[in-house]
Amino acid sequence: MQTGLKGRDLIGDLDFSKEEVETVLDVAFDLKMKRAMGIPHAYLRDKVLAMLFYFSSTRTRGSFEAGMAQLGGHAAFIESRTTQVSHGDTEVELGEIFGRYFDGIAIRHCDWDLGNRYINNVASSSRVPVLNMQCEIYHPHQCLADIMTIIEKKGRDLRRKKMVVSWAYASSYLKPMSVPQSLILQMPRFGLDVVLAHPPEFKLMPDIMDQAREQARKYHTGFEVVHDMDEACKDADIIYAKSWGPMMTTTDAAEGKRLQDSYADWIMNDARMALGKDDAIYMHPLPADRDVEVASSVLDSHQSVVFDEAENRLHAQKAVMALTM
Ligand code: CP
Repeated sequence: MQTGLKGRDLIGDLDFSKEEVETVLDVAFDLKMKRAMGIPHAYLRDKVLAMLFYFSSTRTRGSFEAGMAQLGGHAAFIESRTTQVSHGDTEVELGEIFGRYFDGIAIRHCDWDLGNRYINNVASSSRVPVLNMQCEIYHPHQCLADIMTIIEKKGRDLRRKKMVVSWAYASSYLKPMSVPQSLILQMPRFGLDVVLAHPPEFKLMPDIMDQAREQARKYHTGFEVVHDMDEACKDADIIYAKSWGPMMTTTDAAEGKRLQDSYADWIMNDARMALGKDDAIYMHPLPADRDVEVASSVLDSHQSVVFDEAENRLHAQKAVMALTM
């Protein structure tokens, strides 16, 4: 168990070593049990987390805010439009000043080619831990909840289990690619064989792909890329099918939407779910484009674990906050 996490940032999935992630998971399971048993666990009494949002949220805001209260502290919800950022507050000022008011700074900033740099710039000027609530590259706290959920459903020994991370069609907006990128970085460390499926224009970042291949080599797991959703789903133990935008092909919103609309048949449906193992589970971080990205019959089925995933955001994030703040 590696517990030396006080003061540490969590911005990218590989910022914590595998042993440190295992510590986070151990603490998360303990906190989940304590909450179920009504055992007080005010490890962050009198501490305050700043939650700075540049993008909307349901689960992330709710789980960080509830988590801080359950740990005996408080979370301040700060919507970027209500700040003086547009009038000149820089990342250095945010880091320096919020670092003196708060005991941790959590930020969601998903703007392409801006969000991750912004979070890192704040972290460089902050004396307290900075936690990434999602940027355009990573969604590390979602990924911690996902591995926690997979362990609950499939056990600790995940070696030789097949996890499909698949693109799916969405019509609402061009979603960030941070969830699939976090998954392909973290899951090889836990022994899962990852199959990444997407139409050719929906590639992930080359640097992230290289790091994912390196993790797969290091942990002796499979890592394969296919361009056919049916082929990917065959014999899967875990199917994580969600949409993301074609930002590596075009950052033009209209062209991206045109590309996206040309793959409307990439929906996660019953026929594709049936290609997986009988006990395969379906995962999605939510929100989902219901009956566009995933059929209601899959999303609402006994194979869907989306509510457990959403719940585990709370426990995983409480563990990160208790260990770092
Ligand atoms: N999964 C997730 O991050 O949900 P929100 O966008 O609602 O926070």
